[in-house]
Amino acid sequence: MKILGIETSCDETGIAIYDAEQGIMAHALHSQIALHVEYGGVVPELASRDHIRKTIPLIKQVMKEANVSAREIQGVAYTSGPGLVGALLVGTSIGRSLALAWQVPAIAVHHMEGHLLASMLEDKPPQFPFIALLVSGGHTQLIKVEGVGRYELLGETLDDAAGEAFDKTAKMLGLSYPGGPAITEAAKQGNPDRFHFPRPMTNRPGLDFSFSGLKTFSVNTLHQFNSPDEQTKADIACAFQEAVADTIAIKCQRAIKQTGIKRLVIAGGVGANKRLRERLNLLSEKLQSEVYYPRFEFCTDNGAMIAYAGYLRLKAGQHESLAFNARARWPMEELCPVQ
Ligand code: KG4
Ligand code: ZN
Repeated sequence: MKILGIETSCDETGIAIYDAEQGIMAHALHSQIALHVEYGGVVPELASRDHIRKTIPLIKQVMKEANVSAREIQGVAYTSGPGLVGALLVGTSIGRSLALAWQVPAIAVHHMEGHLLASMLEDKPPQFPFIALLVSGGHTQLIKVEGVGRYELLGETLDDAAGEAFDKTAKMLGLSYPGGPAITEAAKQGNPDRFHFPRPMTNRPGLDFSFSGLKTFSVNTLHQFNSPDEQTKADIACAFQEAVADTIAIKCQRAIKQTGIKRLVIAGGVGANKRLRERLNLLSEKLQSEVYYPRFEFCTDNGAMIAYAGYLRLKAGQHESLAFNARARWPMEELCPVQ
C-alpha cells in the first residue's frame, strides 16, 4: 500500500510517499525560512501563498523520484490541523482533490500525531507503550502512548512552548529565525558557567512546564549590560539552552518514574537540539531506560511523518467523508484509537 503525505501546517511544505513494504520511498521539503526571516517569525498569509506555489510541484517531484504513478497511490494523507488555518487549507484542499480525482481515500492527519510517530520510521522503532516528549514550536507535552490514538496527556506547558521560547529568546538576542538552530550555534561559543538560569517548575511536583520565565530571565540578563558584546550574547544563549535541556530532562525522568514506562520517544523540532539529546542520553544511561529519536530531518515538519500516520490510520479502516476540514485547534485526545 502506497500513501502520499502532504504537510502544510506552518512554514514548511513537506511531501512524501510511504510504502507498507519499502517504507519512505521519496520525500521532499521546501522550507520557507528565507521568506519569513526578515519579519523574525512566520507571516501566515505569506506562508499560505508559498504553499500554493510549492505543493503541487513537490508532489510531482516526489512521485517522479519514487517512480510511482497516480494509479499506484492508494490513499492521500494530509495535515488537517492543528496549525495556521490558511496554510492547512492548502494541503487539505489539494489532498482531498487528488484523492477525489484518483478515487482513493483521503486521510486527515493530526500534525502532532505525525510528530509523535516519526521515530517509528527509523530502523529500530519503539514498541508501545512509551512516554512521548513532544517539543515543537507550538507544543510542549509529555504523553503516555499505549498505541496509535491512545494518548494520555501527562503534562504540558502552561505558557510558551519550548520552541517558542527558543524563537523569542533568539529574537531578543538579535539572532536569526528560527531560534532553535540559531541559539545552538551561538551557544557553541558560550561559557556555560557564566550565568545560571532557573529550571522552571522543577521544585514542585507535576509534569507541567513553563518557559516564558526563561525568556524574561534572558531579557533581564541582557539588560544588565549597556552594550552587550557577542561573548555575552553567546553566554546567555548557552545558559538558556542548558536550562531548557535540563528542565526537560528533569520532567522526563519524573514521567518515567511516575509511570514505570522506561521508554522515551522524542518528537518535534526541539528534538533536533543536540544538547537536549545529550542530556536525555545521559538520563537513559542513569535510569537504564531507552530513548528514541527521529532522524534530524524528521524532527522538524516533514511529509514523511504525515504519510506514515495516514498509512497507519487507513490500514485501521479510517478515512474521511467528502466534506473537508482544516482545524486550527485540535486536541490530540479527540483522536480515536486504532486497534
Ligand atoms: O516541529 P516543528 O518543525 O514545527 C512545529 O510543529 O512547531 O518545530 C519548530 C520549532 C521552532 O520553534 C524551532 O526554533 C525549533 O523547533 N527548533 C529547534 C531546533 N531546530 C528547530 N529548537 C532547538 N534546537 C534545534 N536544533
Ligand atoms: Zn511540527
